[in-house]
Amino acid sequence: MKKYLVIGNPIEHSLSPQLHNHWIKENNIDAIYNKKQLNESDIEEIIDEVKKGEIDGINVTVPFKKSVIPFLDQLTALAKEVQSVNTIFKKDDKIIGDNTDIGGFEKGLKYINYDLKNKNVFILGAGGVASSIILALKRLGAAKIILSNRTKKKADDLKKKYTDLEIINWGETPDFNVIINATSLGLKSDDQIKLNYTDIGTNKLFYDIIYNPNKTKFLSKAEQFGNQIENGKMMFIYQAQLAFRIWHNILPKIDNKLLDL
Ligand code: ATR
Repeated sequence: MKKYLVIGNPIEHSLSPQLHNHWIKENNIDAIYNKKQLNESDIEEIIDEVKKGEIDGINVTVPFKKSVIPFLDQLTALAKEVQSVNTIFKKDDKIIGDNTDIGGFEKGLKYINYDLKNKNVFILGAGGVASSIILALKRLGAAKIILSNRTKKKADDLKKKYTDLEIINWGETPDFNVIINATSLGLKSDDQIKLNYTDIGTNKLFYDIIYNPNKTKFLSKAEQFGNQIENGKMMFIYQAQLAFRIWHNILPKIDNKLLDL
């Protein structure tokens, strides 16, 4: 039986096992997918288990998308470009890091038919997933990307690679059409993001990468103020679908039965 794993910290919130095990069963594959909470110091050992063939594939989530990189033999072009890995597999005895967050985010926006042309996008967060979102937004034709992170240095570092980014201080609110929460704020129910909703106005798109809880405070307040909201559910499903194809060579079905799961 093949073994797959999602690693992160915290990991309780992850619905990856449910999703992958559903597709594994649907496609009659002899495999199991589990979740495991890790510390940074455990990463080397778990990658070693992939090398030894004890684990067949790993999904990586908060906060290890960057920190796994030194332990891998090779990155795909996309993972290398954004320096972020969410899917690990073995090929010809090499451990390879790939990134399906970029494709997942793109497909998620296409799913809601949102056209990014001429739109200004404000991203909160400069962690592991932010670079994937920046690349996806650029590929989709966003006009301007503004970035803000509690630790400003991380935002400044991203600007070295994506020089047309506009960096603003944490706590400031610029003019935007779309705001994306790419921080982990919201995973815990008492998490708050300080925003002046009155000044922001209405009819903006509020997008949260978080899908569990399915409506963070960030989204519920935005909705109260008359904005369109979207959580990370479709991005999550699409990144998982792309990871499934990497491991099993099958693009699994996304149908109503799955969406209700
Ligand atoms: P991931 O792999 O999902 O990106 P990460 O790299 O740890 O995980 O990134 C988490 C993001 O959430 C970062 O942007 C982090 O801000 P810092 O760079 O300042 O750490 C942000 N974040 C987490 N907790 C936060 C908090 N209490 N206030 C503001 N930002 C927070």
